[in-house]
Amino acid sequence: MSNLKQEILKLLKSDQFISGQEMADRLDVSRTAIWKNINALKTEGYSIESVTRKGYHLREHPRYISPTALEVLVQDSALFSHMEYFETTESTQIEAFQKLESRDGAYIVVALEQTKGRGRFNREWFSPKNRGLYLSIVLRPNIPITEIIRFNLFISLALSKTLDQAFGVKSGIKWPNDIYISNRKVSGFLTEVVSESNVINAIICGIGINIFKDEGVSALGTATDIESEMEPGRKVDLDDFMKKLIHNMEVYYDRFINEPFSSIRDEWKSRAIVFNKDLRITETGESYMAKALDIDSDGFLEVLDETGEIRRVVSADIEL
Ligand code: BTN
Repeated sequence: MSNLKQEILKLLKSDQFISGQEMADRLDVSRTAIWKNINALKTEGYSIESVTRKGYHLREHPRYISPTALEVLVQDSALFSHMEYFETTESTQIEAFQKLESRDGAYIVVALEQTKGRGRFNREWFSPKNRGLYLSIVLRPNIPITEIIRFNLFISLALSKTLDQAFGVKSGIKWPNDIYISNRKVSGFLTEVVSESNVINAIICGIGINIFKDEGVSALGTATDIESEMEPGRKVDLDDFMKKLIHNMEVYYDRFINEPFSSIRDEWKSRAIVFNKDLRITETGESYMAKALDIDSDGFLEVLDETGEIRRVVSADIEL
């Protein structure tokens, strides 16, 4: 991948023109090289306007996240050191797992389409092209495996906040791993670990977000997508979403490593959508109705079941 293309993308602004000569001078290359790479960015879907005597400006980002934009974001990230980008793959989880040995540090795998997208409880995650964002992030904390419940709480908060900031929606967290808008699921994540002697070597967190509306018959069922939930006229900008997601992941991952759940408990609870509702909880084959009472300091959900017993839920499928 051309570094020059990434450098040019960093210089292009939506609200300001920059001349080809200025870019050439700043990047110490010829104007022909600038022109060639501008054209390459256009083929990635960037709408770049050029106006005589003013230069270039970025009119619109591609509909989908571009590999160049992702590369730039990862280069600027204090947490992630590299990324992989696939037009199509079976599952970004599989790709992320396969690279654990050959890569070190934290990284991101993104795909435009998955042919074997996988959700929690081994359910299928419908992942066609042009509909969603499918990514896996790999992190390598050196912490006891029991901490993984807390991880989900920090990440769900980062994800819910990012959706709100990037798309102007109002999302909520359905404990433990789902994000909802207007009572419908818009995103879910799956946390898998590689561990040794109860210490985590790697966390592979796969995130799926329904982004674009299906103009035909929707296969989402009771779920929703970002486009349907955004205010009319507002456009999805996935470059901007990824920028904000990476930033929030950095912030909340750092807090996860250094702070107890109590530091985000109030913020997390203000986004939780499991309270004051009748819940159907299914854990290890048993299914029962309950009401959520609280979330404890370890991140376990405390519920009151129909028999009046208070239970501590570790991991479950919850229906609202
Ligand atoms: C769920 O709600 O059940 C979790 C869904 C997780 C789906 C994502 S899409 C990217 C990554 N690759 C997969 O195969 N699954 C996760």
